[in-house]
Amino acid sequence: MNVVHSIRDLRAVLAGRAPIAFVPTMGNLHEGHLALVDLARQRCGTGGRVVASIFVNRLQFAPHEDFDRYPRTLEADCRLLEARGCDVVFAPDEAELYPEPQGYKVVPPPELADILEGAFRPGFFTGVCTVVMKLFQCVRPQLAVFGKKDYQQLMVLRGMVRQFALPIDVVAGETSRADDGLALSSRNGYLDDAERAEAVNLSRMLHTVRGHVRGGDCELDAVERRALEVLRERGWAPDYVAVRCRHDLQVPDAAQLAAGEPLVALAAAKLGRTRLIDNLEI
Ligand code: PAF
Repeated sequence: MNVVHSIRDLRAVLAGRAPIAFVPTMGNLHEGHLALVDLARQRCGTGGRVVASIFVNRLQFAPHEDFDRYPRTLEADCRLLEARGCDVVFAPDEAELYPEPQGYKVVPPPELADILEGAFRPGFFTGVCTVVMKLFQCVRPQLAVFGKKDYQQLMVLRGMVRQFALPIDVVAGETSRADDGLALSSRNGYLDDAERAEAVNLSRMLHTVRGHVRGGDCELDAVERRALEVLRERGWAPDYVAVRCRHDLQVPDAAQLAAGEPLVALAAAKLGRTRLIDNLEI
């Protein structure tokens, strides 16, 4: 496995014709990321090359967020990636990826990017789109894998690829979960033992929401309000619990509900100092 830190070395290592399957990450890898690497390998085959990037992208963090304390574990990450058959790791530093202030940015449409996560993390998806567009230019993949755990991110990036006509096939990986159902996330490492025991209730709450909606409860506002109350009673500070249409993340109307529109329940909530997100297709 090659580990490269500069765009020039990356391009040298990737010269040739083999198809490239790309898994962008911010590092501190867990089984969820590694499952995306497996999916990338499955899709590009043994003749293709799997490239993972590791870069904690300052542009997608607000000043009060956890950019400084986000875990940087490059050596351990590389060991895991090598064991999983990754071919190339691209791990640039900030000076390499942002040698000058990034004045040009990719701004996704507000109707998709300023709702849910974007409403609580203004500018987050501009930061994500900008770095992913840049990483795409560096890696030039034919295929890129993103996890459904970041459901809205996946949709925003799919839209970017489609509207810019990028010749990249976006592949979605299912959310990997711990045995008790907690969605795997690098931020789970911030939880103390008591918080870790409680954290599973975010996904349990989403199952309850799914049960209500599947059971024919069309009063989505009330379902969401009850879910928020349950989280608050358990000591969480929720940002949102929302049932949305899968295809555009907008609020489903009565006709869509009656027609069996595919839905997804999404949630974000803070437990202590740790903000967790999760979602469940309904
Ligand atoms: O999902 C992530 O880890 C990040 O948002 C991404 C896509 C690597 C961009 O920094």
